[in-house]
Parts: sequence; structure tokens; C-alpha cells
Amino acid sequence: MTLPPGLPAHAREVPLDRAYRLLNHGPTVLVGAHHAGQTNAMAAAWACALDFMPPKLTVVLDKATRTRALIEAGEADGHARFTVALPCVAQASLVTALGTTSAVEVPDKMARVQRDAGLRWRPVPGTDGLPLIEGCVAWMVCRVLPQPAVQQAHDLFLAEIEQAWADERVFHGGRWHFETADPALRTLHHVAGGHYYAIGEPVVSPEQGTRA
Ligand SMILES: Cc1cc2nc3c(=O)[nH]c(=O)nc-3n(C[C@H](O)[C@H](O)[C@H](O)COP(=O)(O)O)c2cc1C
Repeated sequence: MTLPPGLPAHAREVPLDRAYRLLNHGPTVLVGAHHAGQTNAMAAAWACALDFMPPKLTVVLDKATRTRALIEAGEADGHARFTVALPCVAQASLVTALGTTSAVEVPDKMARVQRDAGLRWRPVPGTDGLPLIEGCVAWMVCRVLPQPAVQQAHDLFLAEIEQAWADERVFHGGRWHFETADPALRTLHHVAGGHYYAIGEPVVSPEQGTRA
């Protein structure tokens, strides 16, 4: 299987019926969008799995964000997609940079964050700018399931996960295995400001064992 450019050699496709597990543990994510020649990305802590199959997720996107504006512009054109990437401990500064700089005020945000915090991304194949952000441990391509009233009232976007990949060093057999991998590959969980926790140690209930 050919991986999209920008994903590392150790990325593997995640079966869609296991995609919800990428979000089960509540990681902070990076949401990427593209419209009419502009690519952007922002941090989002309020992302959540919503359904098993087809897999769905929700994410809260404030009205003030450029990322949301790009997604909504795509909705108006009838093809609203966005990417969701799961950054890891090694990328904490990148997450803070994407979450504290807005392309509304800084039109060259992506170039600035590339220069200052090491942002690297490649377009999803077949698009000219929907970003797959390098160095993350999982990536999803999502199609907006339009809910105009919910989006307007709650800033909440529902989407179907159409494609998913994960770094096999930490996600294999349909689940995460952070405890046996490099701690720098652990996902981030936002507390406040630039303060995060890395995902912690496993707790396995004896009743369930290690059942997949
Ligand atoms: C760790 C972190 C988590 C965040 N989570 C969210 C979120 O869930 N929803 C949201 O609308 N903004 C969230 N933000 C704020 C946006 O990332 C921020 O407003 C960003 O500058 C928007 O960028 P843009 O205007 O270029 O799209 C978060 C910021 C940080 C640092």
C-alpha cells in the first residue's frame, strides 16, 4: 500500500472500524483546512469520537478561527473536508504555536510557525493543500456532516472519518501501545496555556484483560 507523501515510512492505514480508537483517550489534536489557495491549521483540545462505523468525530471550532472559516467556505462549495492529526510530546511547542497564533491576525501563520516551531506538512493526495502535518502519530481525513444550527449555536462540527493512518510504533493491532514505545511519541492532553500531560501508564482491568 502506498502511503500519502508526508507520512513517515512507519505510518500504516488504520481500518476504519478501528478509527474511533485514535480518539478514545482524549488527545489534543491539530485541525487542518484548505480553501481557495489558503492552507491553515490550529490546535483543538475539544475533539471527540462520535460513532463506530462509519467512524465519526466532533470538534469544537470557534467562530473567530481562520480554520473554521476555511472549512465553512468549503461547505458553501459543497466539499468540506478537514484533517485531524494527533501531535506527540516532541511537538508540544508546535501545538502551542498553532493554538496561539491566528491566521486572522497573522496571514502567513503557516510560514511563521514553520520557521519558529518546525511545522512541516504535505497536501493530502488529490487536494492542493489539505494538510497532513508531519511528525504526528496519527492522521485522519474527515468530511463535514453539515449541521448548520449546531455549528452556529455550539461551534460544534460533526464529521465522518474517511481515511486514517497511525504510526505503527505506537498504534498497531487496532489500538495504542504507548507504554512500549519512545515516550516522545506519547500524545498530548491539554491542561491550560502551554501546559499538557503526556498520555500516562496503562491500567488494565482484570475482567477485560488485554482483549482487543
Ligand atoms: C492546546 C490548545 C487547544 C485548543 N483547543 C481549541 C478547541 O478545541 N477549539 C477551538 O476553537 N480553539 C482551540 N484552541 C485555540 C485555537 O487553536 C486558536 O484560536 C488558534 O489561534 C486558531 O487559529 P486560526 O485562527 O489560524 O485557525 C486551542 C488552543 C490550544 C493552545
